[in-house]
Formats: sequence, structure tokens, C-alpha cells
Amino acid sequence: MKNLTTAELRELYLRFFRGKGHAIISSASLVPENDPTALFTMAGMHPLVPYLLGARHPAGTRLADVQKCVRTGDIDEVGDESHCTFFEMLGNWSLGDYFKQEAIAWSWEFLTGSEWLGIDPDKLYFTCFAGEDGLPRDEEAHDRWVEMGVDPSHIFYLGREHNWWGPAGQTGPCGPDTEMFIDTGKEPCGPDCFPGCHCGKYLEIWNDVFMQYNKTADGRYEPLAQRNVDTGMGLERTVATLQGVPSVYDTDAFAGILAEISRLSGKNYKDSDETKKAFRIIADHMRTATFMLGDRRGVTPSNVDQGYILRRIIRRALRYAMQLDMPEMSLSKVAESVISTYGDIYPELCDNRERITSELDKEEMKFQNTLKTGTKEFERVKRHSADGHIDGRTAFRLFDTFGFPIEFTEELARENGMTVDVEGFKAAFAEHQAKSKAGAEGKFKGGLADASEATARLHSATHLLQAGLRKVLNDENVAQRGSNITAERLRFDFSFPRKVTPEELREVEAYVNGAIAADVPITCEEMTVPEAKAKGAIGLFENKYGEKVKVYTMGEYSCEICGGPHANRTGELGTFRIKKEEASSSGVRRIKAVLE
Ligand code: ALA
Repeated sequence: MKNLTTAELRELYLRFFRGKGHAIISSASLVPENDPTALFTMAGMHPLVPYLLGARHPAGTRLADVQKCVRTGDIDEVGDESHCTFFEMLGNWSLGDYFKQEAIAWSWEFLTGSEWLGIDPDKLYFTCFAGEDGLPRDEEAHDRWVEMGVDPSHIFYLGREHNWWGPAGQTGPCGPDTEMFIDTGKEPCGPDCFPGCHCGKYLEIWNDVFMQYNKTADGRYEPLAQRNVDTGMGLERTVATLQGVPSVYDTDAFAGILAEISRLSGKNYKDSDETKKAFRIIADHMRTATFMLGDRRGVTPSNVDQGYILRRIIRRALRYAMQLDMPEMSLSKVAESVISTYGDIYPELCDNRERITSELDKEEMKFQNTLKTGTKEFERVKRHSADGHIDGRTAFRLFDTFGFPIEFTEELARENGMTVDVEGFKAAFAEHQAKSKAGAEGKFKGGLADASEATARLHSATHLLQAGLRKVLNDENVAQRGSNITAERLRFDFSFPRKVTPEELREVEAYVNGAIAADVPITCEEMTVPEAKAKGAIGLFENKYGEKVKVYTMGEYSCEICGGPHANRTGELGTFRIKKEEASSSGVRRIKAVLE
């Protein structure tokens, strides 16, 4: 098995799939575009959903990439060996091109080939879909592994819970998967230990999903006209396995970041289990926060949506920074080390360095104030508590409303000779978390899978709105900072230093309605980014490999780089009305508008 650095594995993976006819595409933004079903990009396939459903991708039918991803559902597990809230996913896709045979043969070649990862075949284990709910067992995947020379005793059939990928309980593209594991050589946890068991003996490194069904609204699985392959290899986890280290935090990706935390705190990662956990949480959370703040669709801390998740992550990191006695304003220094580690691969981090560090310092100052208010509230709770006991709901209110971590509440309670119902706090917390999880990430059901005509029309209106704003505000600096569309309305965030006046808003409306009245066709062309720029197209894009992008043009009214989908003609849009203009965060305005 080869010992590779993070950079080497990225490079090797892309080189391998380029050799198999794949176009390398750039990582999409961490914030999904025009997709109200998810706050963050959670897998490599997520930005590709429209193409998995049949839209033509400008780069062709074989794609590979390294996608930045955020998953915060398990945030409280961060600190152990394997959980991270940010990770990079290596992936290769077939959009109606190759299927199980090639996907499995190439996974095998990449894992075991001496030029590639060179993993000893005896150490590899595989799982395939056992069949469930009337869906057949995936014997083809099983047989393909056997053809590669895999001993059948290394292949396990498992049910949906393990070997099915797709929108859980929702509609959209889905199918059986086959997962690849490395045996760490540890003792099995018991007679029933198997690949997929979480005891740590088998580590999952890759997942090939065979999207061959579309789940319909009435719960049927109909075969998809276009059969796709969607694969995902966790970069950090695979590097840890190749480097033979016990956790992702012991790989080269984290070395510079942990060293900076050590320098700032004067402590060592390995001093104790407690310092190890604090170092890991700070390192993970600051990596995630840096990528969120530094994204081309940069997130700003706030109390809603992406901004809320970012705020929680920063505050949690701060709590652990205090535990390590790190000096004030240390987090922005940790962020600098994240930028040094990742700036080569993700240049947006360097471009946004100033924004990343200043937002972190601002958020830290806010949190210090929050702690002061929380302390006052604690004093009030103390005065009103007859029996010296703080119940779970009160502890949760201190946490939720006053940003007061439970550990602080416990510590203060101890100092004041009081007790805290920590179990009650946990119960209130779990209840809240279950709700917010369902509300945030649980919303993910396959991106634009449900893109209706209404959202396509609102999306077209969003382009016209941006063009109108640029024209009326006469400001080249009006740039998109966020877009969110539901079936009822559009919401558009853009950089602009002041309130937009009612007169200006009326002019923008008139511009959009003028474009609608002109009923021009909405056309789409594919070209490179320099070609798009030469044509005057605006838009946010990451483009490292010179791949082609789609440019949507609406007559003389709008020209923008975008993935679609859109209406066919502007005349289909109806009447455009701005409902609200407000501040979204500093230097960013927000407009909500509808089509009537
Ligand atoms: N989409 C699949 C996953 O995330 C590959 O595991």
C-alpha cells in the first residue's frame, strides 16, 4: 500500500480517471445554488443532480472531481478519530455512460494497481445490496467483484440501511451501492463483526452508487432512462488509512493547523485526551468555518440558515479555545494556517483572506458579549432558584438564547454551590437538534429533483433582477452573494453598501418587466470561462481546469454563467414584483420578489 500525502492522493485519483476518459471538473461552491432543499453541498453528486436527471453536462458524460463538502449532522461527534464537519470527496461519474462493469473494474484497478494505491487485495472487503422491499439483490455487482479475483468470503450482502444510496423516503434518483473497506487488522468486535460495523475493524474508503431507479411520489421505483454511476471516496479518511495513522487528524492535512493551535495555546495535542479533543474540535471547526467564509458564495455568521450553522461552529471552537487558554483573537490565526494548507487547491481562500479573518474576529467579540449577558442571566436564575438546582429546560435556555455552553453553566453552578440537571439539558438539546436536523440537512432530497416550472421561472427572473440592479444602481460591484428559490418566491442577496431607494426598486422592477414584455428567447450556449467573459457574461464560478460552462442569454437583457434550469422565453415569467428590500449582513442587501 502506498503512503501518499493528501495532495498526492488528489492528484493520483484525478490522473487515473482522466486516463479513463473523464473530464476533470472544478469543485462547486459549498452553498448549493437555487436549491432550497439543502443548506450545504453534502456530497460530490449534489451539484450534479440536474445532470443525473438527464440535463446535458457541458463537460460530457464522464466526470471526475474533488468536491468540498460540509455535513454538520454529527457535529457533537467531532473530536473522536473520524468525524469531521468539512471533508473533500473524490468522485467519478457516469452520466448515462458506463455502468457496473467499468465502475467496479476501475475501482479495483485504482485500489490494487501497483501504479495506483497498491492495496493488498487480501485486506479489501466489499458489500453489495442484499435486496429488500421488492428491490432485487445486486448479484451483478457481486459477480463483477468475483471476476476481479475477489474471494467470495470477502463480499457481504447487506440491506438498504447499508447499501442503498439516494434520497431517503423521498423522490428522485437512487439505487444500490457497493462499498469498499480496508481491514485494519484489529480484532473483530465479536462473532457478528462485518464490513459496515462501526467498531473500527473495517474502514470504508469508497462507495460506488448505481443510480438505476427513480423513486416516484407514490413510492414506486421505476427504472431510470439514464443509468448513472456516482462514486464517493472520502479524501481525509483514505489518506489516514494509507498513512497508517489512527485518525484523520494525524494526517499531513492537519499538521500545520494543529501546530498553530499548539503555538497559540502553549499546549501539545498529545498532552491528554482532553487537549486532544479540544485541538481536534478547534482544527475541524476552523477548517469548516474558513471554507464557509472563504467560499465564492461566502457565508456570514447570522441567526438563520447557513449563517446559523457557521455561527454555531465558530462559537463551539471558541469555547474549546478558552478551555486551552488561547489568547483572544486566536481563531483568525488558526484560519490563516487553514489558508496556508489549502490555498493552492482552493484559491478562493486566499482571495477572501481579509473577509475570513475579520469576520472571525468580529464573531469572537460578539461571543464575548454574549457570555457577559449569559452571566447576568445566570445570576438571575440563581436568585430565583429556591433549591439551588437548575433544571434542564433552564440550562437549555441559557444555552440556546444566551449562547451559554452547558459546561460553563455547570462550572458556574459548582462555584455557586448549585447543581444542574445535565440529563434534562441533554434531553431538551436532543429534542431541539432532532427538529433542526430535520429542518436543515434533512431537507436534502436530491437538489433540483423537484425543480418545477415555477422555480425555473423564478430562476430566470433572478437573472433579470441581477441585471436590472447592475443597470439601475450603476454599480459594477453589485455582485451576487446568495440566491434561494422556493416555489413561491425568489430571494437574492447582493453586495451593495446602502439601502436601495423605493424609486430605484421601481426602476429595477420596470427593467425586469420590460424584459418580460419583450418576450425574448432564453438561450443556452456552452463555452470556456474566458469566452464567457469576452461575451460579457457575469456569474460566480470556480474553474480550475478550463472546463466549459453554460451561459444563459436573454436577448440584450441578461447574460450569465449558470447551470440552469430556466424558462424558455422571458414572456413566460408573468409580472415581476419586489416585495421587500432589507439588509442581510454588513455590506449585503437582500431582495425578496415574486412573479404574479
Ligand atoms: N453519493 C455517494 C456518497 O456520498 C457516493 O457516499
